[in-house]
Amino acid sequence: MEQYAIKGGKALEGEVTIAGAKNAALGILAAAIMTDEKVVIENVPDVSDTRTLLAAIQDIGATVEHLDEHTVSICGKGIVGDDTLSVDGKNIRKIRASYYLIGALLGKYNYANVALPGGCDIGTRPIDLHIKGFETLGADVKIIQGGKIVARAEKLVGKHIYLDTVSVGATINIMLAAALAEGKTTIENAAKEPHIVDVANFLNTMGANIKGAGTDVIRVRGVSRLHGAEYSIIPDQIEAGTFMTMAVATRGNVLIKNVIPKHLEAISSKLIEMGATVIEYDDSVRVMADGVLKPTQIKTLPYPGFPTDMQAQMAATLALSDGTSIVTESIFENRFRYVQELCKMGADIRVEGNTAIIHGVEKYLGASIVASDLRAGAALVIAALAADGFSTIDDIKFIQRGYENFDEKIRGLGGDIEIVDSEREFQKYKLKIG
Ligand code: UD1
Repeated sequence: MEQYAIKGGKALEGEVTIAGAKNAALGILAAAIMTDEKVVIENVPDVSDTRTLLAAIQDIGATVEHLDEHTVSICGKGIVGDDTLSVDGKNIRKIRASYYLIGALLGKYNYANVALPGGCDIGTRPIDLHIKGFETLGADVKIIQGGKIVARAEKLVGKHIYLDTVSVGATINIMLAAALAEGKTTIENAAKEPHIVDVANFLNTMGANIKGAGTDVIRVRGVSRLHGAEYSIIPDQIEAGTFMTMAVATRGNVLIKNVIPKHLEAISSKLIEMGATVIEYDDSVRVMADGVLKPTQIKTLPYPGFPTDMQAQMAATLALSDGTSIVTESIFENRFRYVQELCKMGADIRVEGNTAIIHGVEKYLGASIVASDLRAGAALVIAALAADGFSTIDDIKFIQRGYENFDEKIRGLGGDIEIVDSEREFQKYKLKIG
């Protein structure tokens, strides 16, 4: 099984270019099948989650063409939207965003039949709000044997929907279905993440009429059809944040290119509190740190609050600060599974309920550790790069779900990381690196 082999201790230096946002891409690729015309999408990150979603839409009859590494052309004309339609490919149950196909197919064909979503195991991840939204629009939604969701409607009619919890997935999914519903839908208490705005902008480019994305009230006036479009996905806020924390944890100096600095404000301000320097340019940020890092408090919140998807990477960095930090996870209930792995590397972290109490240590020590989910995996890579000595990280498939060419980008910054798939290869790597 493939592992990352890492020798830590080097300050990362240089430039790295951020890929398109995975979570925006997943919504946009699903939305692309809502027209029978050709859609060309640029800046699609080449990660396993997007590959899985593209394979799923191909399986149901969409034409998918890779125009270059990051540009995909999609045509949903070949999808047959009758009772034979079923999304249940080999890997689709492994990704969470398969749920966007429910909203997209229901909007277009008034019918969807999709395997229940999987994704990272970071606690209970219900989709009751998505279902409630579809039902309010007039669909009958059932979970049938074999773990599938079947949603069916005579027609979808716009309504007023209040989300009890701020949910990224439910906001996007309801927006998708409502785009082709009859009349006006209002989504209240909507999520405001940058990728919500990106999916709304994409739908509008296809002819939808969506206003207010990025605020907590989104108004969708249904249209009768969507048309072809060309669109470029926004840069990935979380990939950028991951490299920002990596620069700080290794006391490096990294220019992170192709970002929207505004999307990074919550992360930048915490890194500045820790004593790092963050310089914003138009579409890049430079992050530098040296010497002692200061502790701080973090609480994850929906955007514009501190993103839960950056919690683990930040905690891995705070574990090297001089003092005690408190990290509170308020979105997901099981998002501290990386802590025991960091403790194997010498971290001093105690978890109490949804809070991690982090007593900073001077150094991590290299160890054999295992990624439990995507962002947890990224946090372990950060720790291993900052550690004294060699580490191996198992289950890197989780990391590859959301980071494009992660090891290559880190090597570009001078980090010692390689993919190995046996103990022998690891020993060879150790001899080579010395
Ligand atoms: C999305 C992101 C994920 C990110 C998360 C929060 C994608 C593919 N994934 O996940 O990377 O960590 O947003 O920013 O974009 N909830 C319910 N009922 C529902 C839906 C959600 O109770 O029907 C709860 C969840 O359990 C959680 C909270 O709402 O406590 C927020 O979840 P949500 O924003 O929906 O996250 P995801 O869409 O799963």
